[in-house]
Amino acid sequence: MTSHRIALIPGDGIGIEVLPAATAVLDAVGRRHGFTLGYDTFDWSCERYEREGAMMPADGLDRVRHHDAILLGAVGRPGVPDHVSLWGLLIPIRRTFRQYVNLRPITTLDGVAGPLRDAEGVDLVVVRENVEGEYSEIGGRLNRGFPEEMAVQESVFTRAGVTRVLDYAFELAAGRRGVLTSATKSNGIIHTMPFWDELVRERALPAVSWNQEHIDALAAKVVLRPREFDVIVASNLFGDILSDLAAAVAGGIGLAPAANLNPERDFPSMFEPVHGSAPDIAGTGVANPVGALWSAAMMLDHLGHAEAGDEVRAAFRAVLAETPVRTPDLGGGATTKEFTAEVLNRLGTAGGRPRQA
Ligand code: NAD
Ligand code: IPM
Ligand code: MN
Repeated sequence: MTSHRIALIPGDGIGIEVLPAATAVLDAVGRRHGFTLGYDTFDWSCERYEREGAMMPADGLDRVRHHDAILLGAVGRPGVPDHVSLWGLLIPIRRTFRQYVNLRPITTLDGVAGPLRDAEGVDLVVVRENVEGEYSEIGGRLNRGFPEEMAVQESVFTRAGVTRVLDYAFELAAGRRGVLTSATKSNGIIHTMPFWDELVRERALPAVSWNQEHIDALAAKVVLRPREFDVIVASNLFGDILSDLAAAVAGGIGLAPAANLNPERDFPSMFEPVHGSAPDIAGTGVANPVGALWSAAMMLDHLGHAEAGDEVRAAFRAVLAETPVRTPDLGGGATTKEFTAEVLNRLGTAGGRPRQA
């Protein structure tokens, strides 16, 4: 029987509540499809930071380097500065393991109303550059406490770094509806963004019809005409913002999944919901687990079990489409556990192809 070793990092807040939903569903689908997942759980979190002064141990990255994939909940907790929690854990994993593609599919789901009058049929993917761009350690603070106080933050866009994510996005678009939108802001940011635009022209595939949009206008279009988009490729920061925006258009950020991919597979890829640790609802047991379940399904695709991944997606879609069971962010009264139980009930009965015993 095939087996995979998964590093589990629940993290903080609702990360701790949604990961058990994901592992329960993964185990159930694994049994049906003839593979097993073995988990090593790491308590790397803000709680660990408060206890031991670091989000993860000094050799943390080495401890997960040989896993087949990493499944992460969310990190961040009030009291610990976000740049400490994120630069102490999430961002080093993305960078060290060259997870330069952050793939964030956004699809409307039957039974999920969303805030717009007419947003059915949305099916887009944000391809977010994940290891460089606006997220950089270069810069500093000067003249602290003086009227001349200032902060400088450099962005880094390399030819190799931009090219590889554009190539990924064009290939992805070629295998979908053949439409790619590149998000930049070349009218205001005059060095990095025109460079990105130039590379888009260089790397464009003939099979893909593409255009570039200014991020501000694009944000409005994603709200007004979300169905028009297929693949949106964007820098680290723009992709971050657009993915929450598009997820909200499709019904809420609790639904949205993400795959931090190392396409060369020389290091593990990491799967995590788009949302954060949601301190405002943490501990109440009502976090929407769909983002985590969908991320787990993307992990299954990555591990070569796309049929099992489809079965997971079909199961949560069926619960949303056919039952009133949903968490409060979607207007329901179900807990994370109740929703997950319903998904487990549906596995294999909702369009997936169960393996013959
Ligand atoms: P957030 O995504 O945690 O929450 C934003 C809003 O969405 C909140 O009202 C929250 O209750 C709601 N929400 C999010 N996920 C939900 C779910 N699954 N079900 C129901 N409601 C949900 O974003 P934030 O408030 O900006 O950040 C909170 C903390 O999380 C910060 O420390 C931030 O740095 C961190 N964060 C971590 C990650 C990550 O680990 N990948 C991602 C984003 C934010
Ligand atoms: C995400 C998050 C992170 C990011 C933060 C928490 C650093 O918002 O994964 O979308 O911006 O990458
Ligand atoms: Mn984000």
